[in-house]
Amino acid sequence: MISGAMLLLRRCCGLTRLSTQRLPVAPAVASCAVRLWSSSGEDQGSYQRAHGPSWRHTAAGLLAGTAAALAYGLHHHKAEQEAAFPIFSQEEVTRHRSLEDGVWVTYKGGVYDITAFVAIHPGGDKILLAAGGALEPFWALYAVHNQEHVLEMLSAYKVGELNAEDLKKQKPIQTSDPYSSDPERHPVLRINNLKPFNAEPPPEILSDSFTTPSAFFFKRNHLPVPQVDPASYQLQVEGLPGGPLTLSLEELKTRFPKHTVTATLQCAGNRRSEMNKVKQVKGLNWGIAAISNATWSGARLRDVLLAAGYGPDVARRACHVQFEGLDKDVTGTTYGASIPLNKAVSEEGDVLLAYEMNGADLPADHGYPVRVVVPGVVGARNVKWLGRIVVSADESSSHWQQNDYKGFSPGTDWDTVNFKSAPAIQELPVQSAITTPADGAVVDRSSGELTVKGYAWSGGGREVVRVDVSLDGGETWQVAQMRSSEKGEAPEAAPPPGRAWAWKLWEITAPLPPGAKELKIVCKAVDNSYNMQPDTVAPIWNLRGVLSNAWHRVNVNIREDESEE
Ligand code: MTE
Repeated sequence: MISGAMLLLRRCCGLTRLSTQRLPVAPAVASCAVRLWSSSGEDQGSYQRAHGPSWRHTAAGLLAGTAAALAYGLHHHKAEQEAAFPIFSQEEVTRHRSLEDGVWVTYKGGVYDITAFVAIHPGGDKILLAAGGALEPFWALYAVHNQEHVLEMLSAYKVGELNAEDLKKQKPIQTSDPYSSDPERHPVLRINNLKPFNAEPPPEILSDSFTTPSAFFFKRNHLPVPQVDPASYQLQVEGLPGGPLTLSLEELKTRFPKHTVTATLQCAGNRRSEMNKVKQVKGLNWGIAAISNATWSGARLRDVLLAAGYGPDVARRACHVQFEGLDKDVTGTTYGASIPLNKAVSEEGDVLLAYEMNGADLPADHGYPVRVVVPGVVGARNVKWLGRIVVSADESSSHWQQNDYKGFSPGTDWDTVNFKSAPAIQELPVQSAITTPADGAVVDRSSGELTVKGYAWSGGGREVVRVDVSLDGGETWQVAQMRSSEKGEAPEAAPPPGRAWAWKLWEITAPLPPGAKELKIVCKAVDNSYNMQPDTVAPIWNLRGVLSNAWHRVNVNIREDESEE
């Protein structure tokens, strides 16, 4: 599958070719550039739209999208240099860091003067972050740029070569890949995007165990996995009357009682691929397994906030708790999100500063050494590699809180969307899906019956009370059996009302209907507020492909026993 980012890049390049005939293509090309802000498909589009035509706000977007934007400038700068290039020292290159002095960058030993490009590009000042230095670290972070035609575009700006000595010094930078210290992953995972790493397990694995083994738990990263030294790790807690509180990992573990919660995390984009079948959306093409269930242990966020001075006065002025991760993009911008203060401080909210997952230290991919676990709330607010907590009157200003992970009408498109008009997703709607059989599977008539399995979960601690399964496309229904513990183990006690954080696994074994050649299997769940899933995708389609929770449908064929035919 070609990643969305690559497709966009190609579109940008297509526009570039056009631009040699029709000059005013800047907005279109710039928008492509901004969409390339992250190679993680979740962000494409929304970042650009949210900032609209105001290119000055495109910060990292422009930097990451330099390649596409360079294309726009290409027709303004016809390279005339065919002869041997002059040799420059790194010091000379570094002197060119502004429009006045010229904007130079290096790439693989070449020296490029991109002043003309920056000058004609509103907001191009952000590209100055790379000025005077090597492009490699930036393009390594946004790996989509490492392509033949992008380099071709850059070549139009070449003005010289870097001297051999300085080139040698650059070697470590050139070879450094920000993802090189990402952890090993299990090969069974289905990769949606390699850098940053985004993957989901095969669905049938999900329904095999109530708690998902950490290696198979879906992984959703926007940036490289940061290397955090547990010995020097510090968590900052700010915005409370006691003044900032700093906690080491040891203090977090010893000063606060350890609390354990089994909670399901689901990405807002789970089942996005079904929305793509209605109409293309922007984002990673998740199947039905961007959801998993684990046992998390750590300090309660409530206890930490109380220790930092939280009290009734704070509740009068603050409404949100912001979280900042330690993972950063090239501009130093960290991943961030926030949740409502009342969820954070409620005794029943069970929000954890988790340092264990399934009884072991958090794995690197899942936020080592500390992440927030916000049961019942969309995955995006469960900030990993947690570095900072701020109690505030405002929501997080992070891109992912303000301009992404929001739902819109099917009628809203990228020209009309206003991210300010919709609330950030917090609690997710009721969800269920069929994990086995797979769509298109063939069932032998001789088996006489079919077992259908799946998961069901609802946000906000609402308990799933029923899963209905149909084998005939929704004409007739049967009720599935649900479990909330490992197979063969005694059932867990029912969760207290409003605190059903974990999914339920369900299954049903039904006789194969006589004469049927095909089964149209459908599932739908009902939670204890009697919320139900919508029957089709089209009415809930939205441009980001989030909140995809229509009835899940799987078609299987029945193979007749040949001896009976
Ligand atoms: N926290 C940080 N620091 N960086 C991230 O990229 N991704 C978020 C959230 N927390 C993310 C993060 C998203 S979108 C999701 S769905 C969950 O983490 C995924 O958690 P997991 O990778 O442990 O499954």
